[in-house]
Amino acid sequence: MATKPSNTVIDIGISEKDRKAIAKGLSALLADSYSLYLMTHNFHWNVKGPMFNTLHTMFMAQYTEQWAALDLIAERIRALGEPAPGTYKEFAKLTSIDEVQGTPKAMEMVRLLVKAQEATAKTARKLFPLVEKASDQPTADLLTQRQDVHEKTAWMLRSLLEE
Ligand SMILES: [Fe+2]
Repeated sequence: MATKPSNTVIDIGISEKDRKAIAKGLSALLADSYSLYLMTHNFHWNVKGPMFNTLHTMFMAQYTEQWAALDLIAERIRALGEPAPGTYKEFAKLTSIDEVQGTPKAMEMVRLLVKAQEATAKTARKLFPLVEKASDQPTADLLTQRQDVHEKTAWMLRSLLEE
């Protein structure tokens, strides 16, 4: 006798194996995004020097955008049926971004943010082949948007370091 279908079984046309693997990749992206968010907010608070106003304001625009994106990434993980990581311990384990020690000088902050933006873009890009194979368009759309933001922000920050 066939078992009764349960209302809690996920049936969206993506296999359980792929859902779990995509959620794992998205968890790494969430951890990078959270680490980048926190680094940017930290630098908004602690930046000093002649570029104060420019950087303080620029960092605020960046962390505000990143904060909103955290929710989209976490809720995509939930829609795929997996738990979203939500503690510092889990984020520290999953992230590819090193925590900053002390308070760097203003231009060192910019350099660190370029690296963290690039790292986040690479984590998003790495997941793309699997997402395409599984025809997971909502995740592909989210990854495309995040790559666009991180690559564009990296360019803007990098421009501050150039002559
Ligand atoms: Fe502020």
